[in-house]
Amino acid sequence: MAMQDLLARADRIFMKNVGRLDLVFVKGKGARLWDADGKEYIDFLTGVSVTSLGHTHPAVTRVLQEQAEKIVHVSNYFYLEEQIAAAERLADLVGLDRVFWSNSGAEANEAAIKLARKYGAAKGKYGFVSALKSFHGRTLGALSLTGQPKYQDSFRPLPEGFTYAPLNDLAAWERAIGPETCALVVEPVQGEGGVYPATTEFLAGLRELCDRHGLLLIFDEVQTGFGRTGKFFAWQHTGIKPDILTTAKTLGAGIPIGAMLAKEDVAAAFTPGDHSTTIGGGGMAYAAALAVMDVLERENLPQRAWELGEKILATFREWGRNMPVIKEARGLGLMLALDLTVPAKPVMLECLRRGLIVNAVTETALRLLPPLNIAEEDLAAGLAILKDVLSTAGQAG
Ligand SMILES: Cc1ncc(COP(=O)(O)O)c(C=O)c1O
Repeated sequence: MAMQDLLARADRIFMKNVGRLDLVFVKGKGARLWDADGKEYIDFLTGVSVTSLGHTHPAVTRVLQEQAEKIVHVSNYFYLEEQIAAAERLADLVGLDRVFWSNSGAEANEAAIKLARKYGAAKGKYGFVSALKSFHGRTLGALSLTGQPKYQDSFRPLPEGFTYAPLNDLAAWERAIGPETCALVVEPVQGEGGVYPATTEFLAGLRELCDRHGLLLIFDEVQTGFGRTGKFFAWQHTGIKPDILTTAKTLGAGIPIGAMLAKEDVAAAFTPGDHSTTIGGGGMAYAAALAVMDVLERENLPQRAWELGEKILATFREWGRNMPVIKEARGLGLMLALDLTVPAKPVMLECLRRGLIVNAVTETALRLLPPLNIAEEDLAAGLAILKDVLSTAGQAG
């Protein structure tokens, strides 16, 4: 069916809660996508760091086919073999002891909020400090952690006990801690806020504050996890380890799954009946997660993300010398942003028209999250489009 007809049907059937673009995709392979009218795109967004192995990776497709014929769901009264294997593997990679499986990043954060509150309850602690411009999800608890009034204002009153301080401003976080605070929550690199890495000194300072005040340190690695920033998990860049870590996105390669992990003594706060969900990933998702972790390890993709990221940042800085439209290039690994002197959305739309998918993450910043295993020629082709569009945008601006 032609794209125009599909879009007309979408317009009639969906609630208007998401600001989508007028595109329907029908096929994906590696870093390439095809829309319903047959136009081809290079994907530098990977569904916001979900298809980080590229679309329809054969290792993931194969295990999904096998798992669909074997077993998919038994309820949370029982276990699946793949559920146990994927949890062991993940705990090993993250460096924490125990795992809770959720269906999304927001749900992983909901679980983290409940675990931290249960852990703090004996001392009357229930409050959280998180970062301004952070993003932790759209459910009410995760939304309360999200330090952005534009997402929160229509849904007040929100749950109590959430305060905010600017990223990398340690003194402000110290001031925000009260007697009721149970945990500090941070994304090691702010994603939706515009791709802003937390500094090592800041993260070390948060760890020290937590140790001094008896608080939990929670890292939201929903977007930064699974090699995106050049290490399996972003905390491994600094060695500053959280007590609780949440993740999702790349984990399932597009099959819904998230996870909340914690240290043994923190995890012990949960007792049967405290928290659960009917599916929590499920057989297909655990199989996908095992395949994703296999491919990332086998192909050493975190290291590749690091090397490509450094190369791309150097390229952007080189462009910046002749293109005044580029204000700043920043990021970690293959989690990158280009801040512009002109609005980012028209640049994003022109890239799309030319067959390149990028994302206007703020008013002035383009975000790039290409596949970690992107072929050199796809990367070069995408960057060529971006450079061309930016030079025109620079002239218009
Ligand atoms: C850091 C972070 N946390 C949480 C979420 C929410 O994850 P989900 O959309 O899977 O609920 C996101 C989504 O973008 C995110 O970037």
